[in-house]
Amino acid sequence: MADKLTSKTAIVTGASKGLGHTLTQRLAQGGAWVIAAARSENRLKELAATHEKIIPLVTDLTHSNDVKRMVDTAVTETGRLDILINNAGLGHFGRVEELTEQQWDQMMDVNLKGAFLACKFAIPHLIKSKGHIVNISSVAGTVTFPGGGGYCASKFGLQALSDVLTQELKKDEVKVSTLCPGSIQTEFFPDPRDHALTPEQVAETVWMMVTADPGVIFNQVIMRPQVPPELQK
Ligand SMILES: NC(=O)c1ccc[n+]([C@@H]2O[C@H](COP(=O)([O-])OP(=O)(O)OC[C@H]3O[C@@H](n4cnc5c(N)ncnc54)[C@H](OP(=O)(O)O)[C@@H]3O)[C@@H](O)[C@H]2O)c1
Repeated sequence: MADKLTSKTAIVTGASKGLGHTLTQRLAQGGAWVIAAARSENRLKELAATHEKIIPLVTDLTHSNDVKRMVDTAVTETGRLDILINNAGLGHFGRVEELTEQQWDQMMDVNLKGAFLACKFAIPHLIKSKGHIVNISSVAGTVTFPGGGGYCASKFGLQALSDVLTQELKKDEVKVSTLCPGSIQTEFFPDPRDHALTPEQVAETVWMMVTADPGVIFNQVIMRPQVPPELQK
């Protein structure tokens, strides 16, 4: 496997399962040191056992001190930070009057504020390395649907943050990308559909973004599974 990221350091949030887990392995196989951040310690330890360049770090993105420590760890352990992937996320779905305040806060705290904090602490290091921020949004960050009041708001907010960062970091040559996938076969939904994207397909797209030629930025990529005709509405 091409090791295009040798000598680079990445942070992947939400690395304990799903897309973040696959992505962490993909980046490590591609040569990068990867700080694998999430709350589930055992899952992170198992992940780190699969590759010597994966550094597990228990991190709750809703705690500012944890997020700062995540960035500091990348720099103290490897001497640099090149790639920040804000992948952690969760969804609660239901009509607005049915969503609880706690569900709303949890989506905003992880999907949006967690990404803000990670960017805030990482940017000085990413400016030094002329690095790259990749925000994992969703198709739900590009179109709304009934039941997505909180989730869509958090992902539209993440897109706004990405767009602002694109402008703010242009002169520093820090790339900013947003990936908006449709359904992925992870534990995010209890019963993912067979035709949903695989985490490998999505991770490969992130790999393409972070290994693009120096003069190329993928600002926003929207990817969907190909739905079999008999299942189309
Ligand atoms: N699956 C889909 O259909 C789909 C579609 C479009 C976009 N997405 C987006 O893709 C991203 C990855 O989702 P996924 O499908 O891989 O979901 P997943 O399998 O449920 O994994 C979510 C990850 O987020 C982490 N996380 C949640 N709360 C956290 C917190 N407070 N602090 C740190 N980490 C936290 C979880 O780790 P811990 O529980 O160990 O903390 C876990 O590693 C999300 O941003 C999601 O919105 C998913």
